[in-house]
Amino acid sequence: MIKLNAVLVALALTLPSVLAQSPIYGQCGGIGWTGPTTCATGSVCTFGNPYYSQCLPGVGTTTSPPTSTVSSTSSTASTSTVSTPPPVVTGFVTTNGQKFELNGEEYTLVGSNNYWVGLMNFSPAEMSSAFADMAGAGATTSRTWGFDEVTTDPGIAYYQIWDGATPTINTGANGLENFDNVVAAAKANGIRLIVTLTNNWNNYGGSDVYVDQILGANQFHDYFYSNAQVIAAYKNYVETFVKRYLDEPTILAWELINEPRCAGSTSTASPNCTTETITNWASELSAFIKSIDSNHLVSVGDEGFFNFPNNPNFLYTGDMGVDNVALTTIDTIDFGTFHMYPFDWAQTTDPLGFGDDWIANHTVLVQQALNKPVILEEFGVIESQLDQVTAYTEWYNDVIKDGLTGDLIWQAGSTDVENANDGYMVFPGTSVYTLLTEHAAALKARNA
Ligand SMILES: *[C@@H]1O[C@H](CO)[C@@H](O)[C@H](O)[C@H]1NC(C)=O
Ligand SMILES: *[C@@H]1O[C@H](CO)[C@@H](O)[C@H](O)[C@H]1NC(C)=O
Repeated sequence: MIKLNAVLVALALTLPSVLAQSPIYGQCGGIGWTGPTTCATGSVCTFGNPYYSQCLPGVGTTTSPPTSTVSSTSSTASTSTVSTPPPVVTGFVTTNGQKFELNGEEYTLVGSNNYWVGLMNFSPAEMSSAFADMAGAGATTSRTWGFDEVTTDPGIAYYQIWDGATPTINTGANGLENFDNVVAAAKANGIRLIVTLTNNWNNYGGSDVYVDQILGANQFHDYFYSNAQVIAAYKNYVETFVKRYLDEPTILAWELINEPRCAGSTSTASPNCTTETITNWASELSAFIKSIDSNHLVSVGDEGFFNFPNNPNFLYTGDMGVDNVALTTIDTIDFGTFHMYPFDWAQTTDPLGFGDDWIANHTVLVQQALNKPVILEEFGVIESQLDQVTAYTEWYNDVIKDGLTGDLIWQAGSTDVENANDGYMVFPGTSVYTLLTEHAAALKARNA
C-alpha cells in the first residue's frame, strides 16, 4: 500500500558510487544494500536485522547473511533502502537537563506519529518505505503503537488476544515478530521509536479491553489505573514487550499509555478518579519498566492538561484526571509530553493563540520548572478547520522561539496509506510536508 517516493529513487541515482569497504560503524549488508559487504580493518560485519548489518569494532567471523539471500524479497525493498546511507543506530538516547542526548551530543527529537506501521498488513518493505520518507524529511523520531488488544483473531497484525479473563501475547509472525519488522525498518532508516504500549481510547483495543475482560462489561474506565488484577495483566504485557527489545537502541522510549484520562471512549469515570489516580499508576508502571530495563527512557503519553483548580479554562483544571506537572515530576518519567488539538478541545475562538499559550505554558511551567525535556508529542488541525500551513508555521516557530525540546506532528504519511488517513495526515510532495522538512532542519540548527 505504501508506494515508493519517486524523489528518493531519483536521488539514489545521483549518489556517488560506494566505497569498496565499509568504515567502522558503516552498513555492510541487509535487504536492498548494494554497497560493500566487507569492513575496514578492526571491525567485523555484524548482523543486526534483515535490513541492516553493520561494521562493529572487533575481529572474528562475519555474521552478516549473504546479501543475495535477502535481496530478492521485492523490488520495492531493494530500491527504497539504497537512496541514502542510513545514519547508524548505536547508543541509547538519554536526557541531560532539558535536552535529549545521544552519544554525548544533543539529539534533536523531531518527526511524526505513525501509529499504523505495526498494525494493518504492511510488509517489511512498505514499513521501510514509510520510514525512508520520514528520514527524507529530516525526521529523527517516530511515535508508534506497540499494542492491539483483540478478543477474536482479526486476520491481520495484533499483539494480545483475550479468552475471557486470560490474555495471550501474540509472539508470532503477525504479532511481536511483526513488531520486530517495524523496529528493523526504522533502524534501517536511522529513525528512533517512541513505542506506546496501550491506549486510553478503544482504538486498537486499549485499556478498556483489560477492564472488560478481567472485571466484566460496563465497569468504570479508571479501574484500568486502580484495579490490582488489571494492573498485573498490563504489567505482564509490558514486561514481555520491553524485555524483547532491552538492548535495541532503535527504541527511544517506552510510553505508558496514549492519552490517559479518567474516562474512556464510551466508559465513564468513577467518582473516585482524581489526578492522583493516574499519577500513582504512572509512578508504579514507570518504576516497573525501569526495574527491568535500564537502557530506555520512559514517558507517560498524556495530553498535558494542567491541574490549577480555579483556572477558567477546563484544560487547566485537572478535571480530566491529568496533572501534567505531577506526571512529569515522577522520578522514573524521563520527559514530559503534551498534545494540542484546539478544535477538538473547544478552543475555537482563537485557535492559533491558544496554541501559542499552550506551547509557552508547557515550556515554562513544565520543561523549565522541572528541568526535563518536554515534547509537543501530537498536534494537528484539519484543513477545513484552519489552514494547516498557517497553523503549523505559527506553532513550529513557537517551538523554536520558546525553546521547547522537540515535537512530533500528527501525522506524516507515506504515499497511499489511505486506511490510516484521519484527515490530519500530511503526505510527501505537499506544502505542509515541505514545512515539516524545513522545521526539522531549523530545530536541528537551533540545537547545533
Ligand atoms: C471508591 O473508593 C472507596 C474506598 O476505596 C471504595 O470503597 C469504593 O468502592 C470506590 N468506589 C468505586 C465506584 O469504585
Ligand atoms: C500561559 O501562557 C500565557 C502566555 O504566556 C500566559 O499569559 C498565561 O498566564 C499562562 N498560563 C499559566 C497558567 O501560567
